[in-house]
Amino acid sequence: MSLRLGDLAPDFSAETTQGRIRFHDWAAGSWVVFFSHPRDYTPVCTTELGYTAKLKGQFDQRGVKAIALSVDPLADHIGWSKDIEETQGCTVNFPIIADPDREVANRYDMIHPNASDTFTVRSVFVIDPNRKIRLTLTYPASTGRNFEEILRVIDSLQLTDRHKLATPVNWKPGEDAIIVPSVKDEEAKQLFPQGFKTIKPYLRTVAPPK
Ligand code: BEZ
Repeated sequence: MSLRLGDLAPDFSAETTQGRIRFHDWAAGSWVVFFSHPRDYTPVCTTELGYTAKLKGQFDQRGVKAIALSVDPLADHIGWSKDIEETQGCTVNFPIIADPDREVANRYDMIHPNASDTFTVRSVFVIDPNRKIRLTLTYPASTGRNFEEILRVIDSLQLTDRHKLATPVNWKPGEDAIIVPSVKDEEAKQLFPQGFKTIKPYLRTVAPPK
């Protein structure tokens, strides 16, 4: 059974490049970007893990921890990390889970047998501080993911949680957001004393709080 939005992210214990972790303890109230890649020593994955390492400042600003997984053994993760450092110009500053027996991959439904019965696909889970799954993404092995989009979704989710705002098509941070429909006008006036625009009774926009 695949994991769905709002489900509790399953806990597990696993070996990683930063030592053994118990996932829920490691997450410890942070947002988490948990993503799988098909194999170590492959080109697309090399660029993805390097780029994720470079986003550490962006993740830190948002209270996010990154963690990767493939079914390769720990020794490969460690050897390949040196290649990532050499070719992408950054140290891998987040843990990579070694999952050679596929226990975690199976729990998170990261192996799609009609794509490959051996390797994980490019899954992404954004998990909130309450350990709830807030986003799932599945990309094919041959397409590198857009980690800027993952950051954008986290910005949107945090805006929803903090300010009861949703975000419109192609929204970028700083642009006007949408007041969620469950907020009535009276409450909206209190939440957004600077005022908001009513385009239709169900479409109300406001500049997001800083
Ligand atoms: C990779 O780099 O991970 C990859 C590239 C093409 C096909 C499958 C995987």
